[in-house]
Amino acid sequence: MLKDAATAVRERAYAPYSNFKVGAALRDAAGAVHVGCNVENVAYPEGTCAEAGAIAAMVAAGQTRFTEAFVIADSPQPVPPCGGCRQKLAEFAAPGAKVTLATTSGLIFETTVADLLPGSFGRAHMEASGG
Ligand code: THU
Repeated sequence: MLKDAATAVRERAYAPYSNFKVGAALRDAAGAVHVGCNVENVAYPEGTCAEAGAIAAMVAAGQTRFTEAFVIADSPQPVPPCGGCRQKLAEFAAPGAKVTLATTSGLIFETTVADLLPGSFGRAHMEASGG
């Protein structure tokens, strides 16, 4: 279950600076689950988000499409992915990919990658440049 995978990996987050642990899990188009947690750095901008870690794990496993994502944190409200992660998620999202945002206390917000990043920049925008 994506929720269990995201909850478990969250415990392994390295977040000594923010003390805000985040876990993310992706189900790829073949059904396999990939997980990631945030990994901070004393040089703060070098830290990476849980979503980025899960995407890296999926790509390293040989998959480039996910159908479902689950993100969990110990926050008062389900934590929305940062702007950069929305773009990263959009790169690898299958059409209609579902995203569940959750708190460790059990609150859930269900959305989609498309709703998280309306008007997103995509490959089609580069077509005239031969990109
Ligand atoms: N963070 C994530 O990993 N994912 C999110 O969706 C929001 C924020 C991390 C980045 C940083 O390590 C900590 O949470 C505080 O911003």
